[in-house]
Amino acid sequence: MPATKDDVQRFWGALHDSLHAGGGDGPGRGDLLRSLDDLEDMFRLRRHMAVVEMPLQALEGLRVLEVGSGAGGHSALFARHGARVTAVDLTAARTRATRAKFDVLGESAAGCLAVQADAERLPFAEDSFDIVYSNGVLHHTPDTEAAVAEVRRVLKPGGKAVIMLYCKSSWHYWINLWLCVGVLMGKAFRDRHWLGKATEWGGGHAQTVENPVTRCYTAAGIRRLFAGFAGLSLRKSEFYFYLIPKLGRLYRRWQVRRYGTHPGGVPVYGEPWPIQSPLEFLLGPVMGWAWFIAATKPAPGQGALDEPPPAGTASDGSSFMPSPSPPRHGSSSSQQRGSPFDSKPSRPAPGPVPVPLT
Ligand SMILES: C[S@@+](CC[C@H](N)C(=O)[O-])C[C@H]1O[C@@H](n2cnc3c(N)ncnc32)[C@H](O)[C@@H]1O
Repeated sequence: MPATKDDVQRFWGALHDSLHAGGGDGPGRGDLLRSLDDLEDMFRLRRHMAVVEMPLQALEGLRVLEVGSGAGGHSALFARHGARVTAVDLTAARTRATRAKFDVLGESAAGCLAVQADAERLPFAEDSFDIVYSNGVLHHTPDTEAAVAEVRRVLKPGGKAVIMLYCKSSWHYWINLWLCVGVLMGKAFRDRHWLGKATEWGGGHAQTVENPVTRCYTAAGIRRLFAGFAGLSLRKSEFYFYLIPKLGRLYRRWQVRRYGTHPGGVPVYGEPWPIQSPLEFLLGPVMGWAWFIAATKPAPGQGALDEPPPAGTASDGSSFMPSPSPPRHGSSSSQQRGSPFDSKPSRPAPGPVPVPLT
């Protein structure tokens, strides 16, 4: 039977309770500001899209929608940088957690809202937002195409979508999930929803309610999904040895001893985040588990990816973000490039193209 929104809501509610159990009254303003600094620092270390594809220093006054805000750390960070943030999440506890962060921020989050709503039916007028941001959400909703269409609808023409979706052309999908969990452990032969159940686990009670929906995409799949957008850029990131079934636990213990943890994990995951090794960091752009995607809603008269491109752009309409500054561990640029994990090698970048924000 196909998963319902109730199933999705139940799972994310249970996971939230298990990750953030005993959170008490939450942090005071000083603590929250410090934890947002930590979060930003962690994102810079990971070259996460929240700081690479999001123009944090240019957010002042922009209308930003976060779809699936979870515990609200990302939305609070954008609010702190002066954005007028609207955060939606399907799950009541997560919406409350986001609202609580806005409340604690007080004046700096003036005009920010947290609303319980469904990504597939956003309760906003079209052309409302300068940026729509969503990290690891739209692949967990039953109709991802409908959710991406909603992102496009509510963006202003020329507005920017900044989205993370899981990457099928990755080590995690093919080795950890498909080979180990799907084939060797036999889950793929017993359950149509095995992939959801094999991803997203957290604290103690999380697995009594299992994740009903997870989807992952090749580069070609992302291009199809974002065909109504212009200026698509995508890059892979996020490689972790600790995701290898069974053995990963041992690795994680060693990794934490060797590289330590980052306190920036607390506002989003409820605990410090293990710092990646330099090798993991290098493998991220080649076979990482996340696609970091940026795309713009075409202004009237501008071509979308599924329309003939205007003269001077690549025939698939792709453009690429300027190279961000190098991370602490150092790595080559993670702009998308051909890799053995790609079902179809990507084109070379036609050169940096700035993406308009208004
Ligand atoms: C992996 S969590 C990501 C949370 C947050 N974006 C982060 O990165 O910390 C996925 C979130 O998506 C939300 N979600 C799932 N389906 C949704 C839908 N159809 N509409 C809105 N939110 C949804 C869940 O409630 C959950 O908070």
